[in-house]
Amino acid sequence: MRKPVFTILSATLVLVTSATEASLQAGQHGRNQRDRNDAYRLNLVADRCVFILATGQSGSTALMDALNQLPHYLIRGEQWAAFWNIYESYLNFKWTTTEPQSQLKFNWTAYQDASLETIKNLYNQEAPREKLPWFNEFPQERIIAAIRSYYAVLYGYYGQSFVSGFKDSRYVCGRSFTTDRCAEFFNGFLPFLRSLCNKVKVLFNTRTSASLSANMKLYDMDRSRSEEDFLKELNETHALYDSYVAGNSDHAFRVFYEDMFDPAKNTTLAMEILEFLDEDPATPIRFNRMPDSNKPDS
Ligand SMILES: *[C@@H]1O[C@H](CO)[C@@H](O)[C@H](O)[C@H]1NC(C)=O
Ligand SMILES: *[C@@H]1O[C@H](CO)[C@@H](O)[C@H](O)[C@H]1NC(C)=O
Ligand SMILES: *[C@@H]1O[C@H](CO)[C@@H](O)[C@H](O)[C@H]1NC(C)=O
Repeated sequence: MRKPVFTILSATLVLVTSATEASLQAGQHGRNQRDRNDAYRLNLVADRCVFILATGQSGSTALMDALNQLPHYLIRGEQWAAFWNIYESYLNFKWTTTEPQSQLKFNWTAYQDASLETIKNLYNQEAPREKLPWFNEFPQERIIAAIRSYYAVLYGYYGQSFVSGFKDSRYVCGRSFTTDRCAEFFNGFLPFLRSLCNKVKVLFNTRTSASLSANMKLYDMDRSRSEEDFLKELNETHALYDSYVAGNSDHAFRVFYEDMFDPAKNTTLAMEILEFLDEDPATPIRFNRMPDSNKPDS
């Protein structure tokens, strides 16, 4: 299976490369027709993605492993919230391409397929008249396309028929989502995450309760925070996860640690997760395949 998939991806990259060259050449000749500039709408997008956002010490590795028991799934593990950096980068681009006064002179969406010559003409017209420290011709559409391609090249590498994703326990209040702006960042990051692939589903994984006793292992990992701050942040994270799932049950699902290891609940839970992911609910997956993961409170 590896070879054809690799060939498809190579072919895609070759197509993209030669299309880019073609359009760069077209640009050099001063043409600005849509058909010559298709390559600017580079469209390398992963198809189906699943992201697991977790509070930590809440069974996210076992959950990831359960999904990875599906042959066409590859959910990668912790990444120090690497995509948070991409989100911040996206916010920086968004600001620098839309907010500075000099950017408002141009409607970059209207120029999204423009040739280099057209863009350079705009620049040369304005530069002698006005300082242009923020001259950024990227339209929002191209910034999003670049992020989607970044994701697809890195995570979606095995072609369109498999499901990619990652799990990370740093998308919580007090980590990536700065304490005093947690809701704002959470509410911005989720739509961003959803824009990465054609179809995105998110699993929010925590302990059932946001109490200290239920999350002692997590608290023990970093005692630099006071108990009070820890609980405040954890409570807010739970509340954000809960309310997001309540309003977005089509693409968001809540998974509690305790249910994963409760023999009275875990079979139903496995089936519900598979159904939520549009997979055959009869597929045998289990949460306790990893060593020691069948000892819940170890
Ligand atoms: C910018 O250009 C796009 C595409 O031509 C157009 O749809 C949009 O209305 C324009 N926006 C403004 C503010 O003029
Ligand atoms: C967070 O704390 C408030 C106030 O103590 C409580 O009412 C709420 O149930 C808690 N939320 C969660 C998700 O634990
Ligand atoms: C549920 O828990 C029981 C007991 O630990 C275990 O034998 C079974 O494999 C688990 N089922 C799933 C779907 O993980």
